Amino acid sequence: MPINSRLSGLRDSDPLERRRRVAEGAELEAGALSALDPAAGLTLEQADHLIENVVGLIGVPVGVATNFTVNGRDHLVPMATEEPSVVAAASNAARMARVHGGFHTSTTGDVMIAQIQVVDVVDPEAGRLRLLEARDELLAAAAACDPVLVRFGGGPIDLRVRVLPTRTGVHLVAHLHVDVRDAMGANAVNTMAEALAPRIGELAGGRSLLRILSNKADQRLTRVRAVFDGELLGGPQVVADIVHASAFAEADPYRAATHNKGIMNGITAVVLATGNDTRAVEAGAHSHAVLDGRYTALSHYELGQDGHLVGTMELPLAVGLVGGATRAHPVAQAAVRLLGVTTARELAEIVAAVGLAQNLAALRALSAEGIQRGHMTLHARTIAASAGARPDEIADVAERIVADKRIRLEYAEEVLAELRAAR
Ligand code: MEV
Repeated sequence: MPINSRLSGLRDSDPLERRRRVAEGAELEAGALSALDPAAGLTLEQADHLIENVVGLIGVPVGVATNFTVNGRDHLVPMATEEPSVVAAASNAARMARVHGGFHTSTTGDVMIAQIQVVDVVDPEAGRLRLLEARDELLAAAAACDPVLVRFGGGPIDLRVRVLPTRTGVHLVAHLHVDVRDAMGANAVNTMAEALAPRIGELAGGRSLLRILSNKADQRLTRVRAVFDGELLGGPQVVADIVHASAFAEADPYRAATHNKGIMNGITAVVLATGNDTRAVEAGAHSHAVLDGRYTALSHYELGQDGHLVGTMELPLAVGLVGGATRAHPVAQAAVRLLGVTTARELAEIVAAVGLAQNLAALRALSAEGIQRGHMTLHARTIAASAGARPDEIADVAERIVADKRIRLEYAEEVLAELRAAR
């Protein structure tokens, strides 16, 4: 039976029961998600192999977003975030798209770029052509660095060379394009760039200096579109106001930064849950948000047919399933199993869908009732917990501090003390 991401009433269960229902819903065996238990996740010993000078771990909640249909297939989506309302908002927006077929995506392929910088070139234009004349030799040398990748159908596919005027003179910058398949690709392309650098410096007649991948992964774009139901959004005025909000973000970098932050709330949460490099994805996204030299919105909304809202987005998504922390981290492995993806491309498509859903949810809240109402209720629960409220006391404390419009730690402590005294 195909997975059904609906799972209604999930929020009314406790975390253990939720985990059981999620595993069952994703057609996984009982215990498939046990690594998500704080007691059974990453060990200190495993952590010690991931980074240096390890002294401990930090816990980040992992929630599961429901209602996602991506390219006709349902997915339950693990999201790691400390921010209240993110998981609920993504699930809610996905429900509004689900009734119109969910999210549809396409990608440009799994191609990453490595840059090799050459300085002190006497004749940069001729140097550029000398490098391009040696294209086949250079691509073959790069391919020899990673026979396994080549065996899996990947490897270097193109060489481009740019003449770059800078304040320290004209540099030559060689771009090696590499199909990295299901890896994030940083290790693969950095190794190739390292290997090619001396020969590139020699051919260019200069000195090769930096050799490193570019996080502006514009050869690895994912595109997503969805139709969000006009009625479920709240009617024609809300739809029109979301289009105004979208236009605002397109026109104004101050608003675009916040608009894109909302997108990254969803994207980073899935990227983190699957053990991928959140900073690489963020750098790629923000670099892609610059159009004609001006920072703008990554997503766009327009009025579609029958009063529904159409959302679209394109961004680079350098995520992988092999290598890196994804393989070494038991929680990331469980997250990947939950998603049911087998290729980096599928993962990127789901990540993009969550980004668009998250963004739509924020714009809807901002355009309709304002963000504070829903946000503050959830924030109040965090404040109540910080004030020392036990799980059975959190709701009462949160409710009081919201009603009194005093969502502050000292007041939560006061309310908690009163509550306990009254019992
Ligand atoms: C908060 O984490 C994200 C929002 O600010 C995004 C937005 O303004 O679009 C609500």
